[in-house]
Amino acid sequence: MTRVVVVGSINMDLVTLAPRFAAPGETLLGERFVTLQGGKGANQAVAAARLGAEVAMVGAIGDDAFGAQLYEGLAREGVALDHLHRIDDCGSGTASITVAGGENAIVIVPGANARLTPAHVERATDAIARADAVLVQLESPLETVEATLRLGSKLGKPVILNPAPAQPLPPEWLELARFVTPNEHELAILLGADASEDPRELIRRIPCPIVMTRGAEGAWYRDGGELVQQSGFKVDAVDSTGAGDTFNAALAVFLNEDVASAVRKACAAGALSVTRLGARGGMPTRAELDAFLGKPA
Ligand code: RIB
Repeated sequence: MTRVVVVGSINMDLVTLAPRFAAPGETLLGERFVTLQGGKGANQAVAAARLGAEVAMVGAIGDDAFGAQLYEGLAREGVALDHLHRIDDCGSGTASITVAGGENAIVIVPGANARLTPAHVERATDAIARADAVLVQLESPLETVEATLRLGSKLGKPVILNPAPAQPLPPEWLELARFVTPNEHELAILLGADASEDPRELIRRIPCPIVMTRGAEGAWYRDGGELVQQSGFKVDAVDSTGAGDTFNAALAVFLNEDVASAVRKACAAGALSVTRLGARGGMPTRAELDAFLGKPA
């Protein structure tokens, strides 16, 4: 069984379904409100677990009611929580999400996620040493992201750096990653480049292997050689929240196969994830992914 360690955020998603996005200063009548579990790190942990991996989460929750629910939610999915830290006198992370026309807009308040430190990563050294792949995103403090990249690299583990939400990062951090996985918008921010620049040119400037996700269009990837295109899978999109998380999780789970196969499966898993409401609603199980790809489940 593939072992995956996720270092990252855990949020409660406060989701409003609306006919469209409100303009600044406008009040809109929404259609529905739901509270769903999310956070990029926790979503990636759940997606990897559903795909059959043995998953350990390194993260932080608050000592509030959301924290207790988030803990239970991860435990129910079979994610190992020995490195989940409950921070006293602190709220859990939240994400206020508007979903309109299959797209989303998100505002995050980090809460306890901001208190995940390099020391917490250090304490998870044994788990990381046993892992086949490590996932990290940018909803955790940057020093914690750096510590994950450095420890993973020191232990010879492939670290997938999902640079979301995007911010510019030192190129030497990228060199520590097995793959960096931005979407087109994140790629430009990561490099401090103009968003109008051709992403194929920007990809050339990334100093490590890269998979650039392209939503319904699939992905472009470069693993040392030429740029390769993986087409997207057609589905009816209900909610794109969590598609990137599902993609990254699948890439980690299938990284022991050849890269072309891992990226194809990641695109398929990401496509399935948008067919239901919520970041985790459409995340496929291994059997669902195999059936979608036309293989026996
Ligand atoms: O990637 C989707 C996630 O981003 C949501 O679950 C939300 O919590 C934000 O972190």
